[in-house]
Amino acid sequence: MAAKTERTFIAIKPDSVQRGLMGEIIKRFEQKGFRLVFIKVASEDLLKQHYIDLKDRPFYPGLVKYMSSGPVAAMVWEGLNVVKTGRVMLGETNPADSKPGTIRGDFCIEVGRNIIHGSDSVESANKEISLWFKPEELVSYKSCAQDWIYE
Ligand SMILES: Nc1ncnc2c1ncn2[C@@H]1O[C@H](COP(=O)(O)OP(=O)(O)OP(=O)(O)O)[C@@H](O)[C@H]1O
Ligand SMILES: [Mg+2]
Repeated sequence: MAAKTERTFIAIKPDSVQRGLMGEIIKRFEQKGFRLVFIKVASEDLLKQHYIDLKDRPFYPGLVKYMSSGPVAAMVWEGLNVVKTGRVMLGETNPADSKPGTIRGDFCIEVGRNIIHGSDSVESANKEISLWFKPEELVSYKSCAQDWIYE
């Protein structure tokens, strides 16, 4: 299992922090068997940089305003295929296309208030994790459940 273990960057966006959904979202990743490596609730000027690839899109100014409107809970989660599986757990970018049972499918309605971010590839995960965290912030530990979650 160790060889394919990945880390992903998940951000609980300001709307879900304000709506009290942090616990529910963390619970889903925890119950799945993924391991929380770091979490900070922060209101930082990293958001413009985080979404820099979207800077030419018409919704970019609104997106930066939305993401800067309150604290986000920035997290790193670790586990086998956590990047891809994490995106499945989030649902589609537009909540209207997200199936019930996914986080966006269950808790939000509009694309501009889609409550959570998850890295879309291992490459973006690495880039986003190094943007948001210092290496020494990311703890390494073996969960006591590991041998019951992985063969
Ligand atoms: N048409 C739109 N109108 C308003 N906001 C949008 C629109 N498209 C995307 N966004 C916002 O920009 C974010 C980033 O868009 P992106 O295409 O990267 O989708 P994503 O990878 O599913 O979302 P995220 O990067 O937040 O996980 C979306 O999550 C959403 O908050
Ligand atoms: Mg994205």
